[in-house]
Amino acid sequence: MKKIKLQATTTFGLEAVVKREVEKLGFKDISVSDGYVEYSSDLEGIAKSNLWLRSADKVLYIVGRFQAVTFEELFDYTYSLPWTELLPEDAKFVVNGKSIKSTLSSVPACQSITEKAIINKLKTKYNVDRFKKNGAEYSIQVALLKNTVTITLNTSGPSLHKRGYRHGQVMAPLKETMAAALIQLSYWNKDRILLDPCCGSGTIPIEAAMIGRNIAPGLSRKFDAEKWSFIPKEIWQEERKKAYQAINYDINLQIYASDINKHAVEIAKVNAENAGVDDCIEFSQTPFNKLKLPGDYGVCVCNPPYAERMGSLADVERLYTDMGKLFNSNKTWSTYFITSHEGFEKLYGRKADKKRKLFNGNVKTDYYQYFGPRPNKEK
Ligand SMILES: C[S@@+](CC[C@H](N)C(=O)[O-])C[C@H]1O[C@@H](n2cnc3c(N)ncnc32)[C@H](O)[C@@H]1O
Repeated sequence: MKKIKLQATTTFGLEAVVKREVEKLGFKDISVSDGYVEYSSDLEGIAKSNLWLRSADKVLYIVGRFQAVTFEELFDYTYSLPWTELLPEDAKFVVNGKSIKSTLSSVPACQSITEKAIINKLKTKYNVDRFKKNGAEYSIQVALLKNTVTITLNTSGPSLHKRGYRHGQVMAPLKETMAAALIQLSYWNKDRILLDPCCGSGTIPIEAAMIGRNIAPGLSRKFDAEKWSFIPKEIWQEERKKAYQAINYDINLQIYASDINKHAVEIAKVNAENAGVDDCIEFSQTPFNKLKLPGDYGVCVCNPPYAERMGSLADVERLYTDMGKLFNSNKTWSTYFITSHEGFEKLYGRKADKKRKLFNGNVKTDYYQYFGPRPNKEK
């Protein structure tokens, strides 16, 4: 079994969530840094990580890590890596770079030295003057941080938030990876009610339903590494098969999603259908001030408008006040709101039990968390 190291990249603030997911998948030697989680794996782990990680952005294969303060060192160490085992003759490879607090600060220069070293190494195996680069994609990254160079291959291709189910969108949609993280940071589990009263394109309820049904989030999409010659095709087939077998179609979920906007609700329903979870979610077009709570001990996970990207400030502030009134009248509920509005707690009428700083795209937000009691049967 070939031992390798993987790096799951994350949005800042979600490292702990991704670490928990990596642990749950059974990976070992896990370490956490700002913006990523690293762990030991085998080749199967590439397929497993891409199919199952819900909150990570990308899964990178670490080809090598070394110190370099001169271009000669960068070239020599890069050349020494096993490129001839990884890249076929027709590999369509591109080298991206980044450099933070490092002597080698010119990113274009680092990229071209790295590419040159790889080409020279490949020429020791393939007898060609120029590589055609018309085969499978291999996106290589040379990342320098305080003179430590990490060279990776992006196994995912496009970011993992692109699950493939979201065709229609509303304004200011949440990334699927962020929605999955917000749910996993909440008290929600498959036996409890979940409510998103500002569901937009349905990302939060759909991600919850996929968690509840144990649907691997990557099951409906492709990954760059599926076309790589050093990973046997059977590995992907096997991991996909296992993921299909793991789906729990019999589970009864109580997921409620509503929005004031009719068009948003229609889009959300289609997205839920695409994700294969439309039968798990009860959608309705309901303005928040007309909403009735569908039971006790529920969990509300919500990405309301912030008045930054959508909504007028007065409407948004009235909505937050209405939310406080409804949920403060039923203390059995646990509620979670992500917003950039710093006056949220005041408008909601209660200080949050916990706040977590998160970036929603480029917007600095807080995740306000209000913990209700656990239902009797959970105790
Ligand atoms: C930031 S978007 C939610 C995006 C959603 N999480 C997604 O991924 O598509 C906020 C949503 O709140 C809805 N909304 C605004 N005011 C509302 C109200 N008073 N009652 C219910 N929904 C409201 C908007 O129509 C919009 O779809």
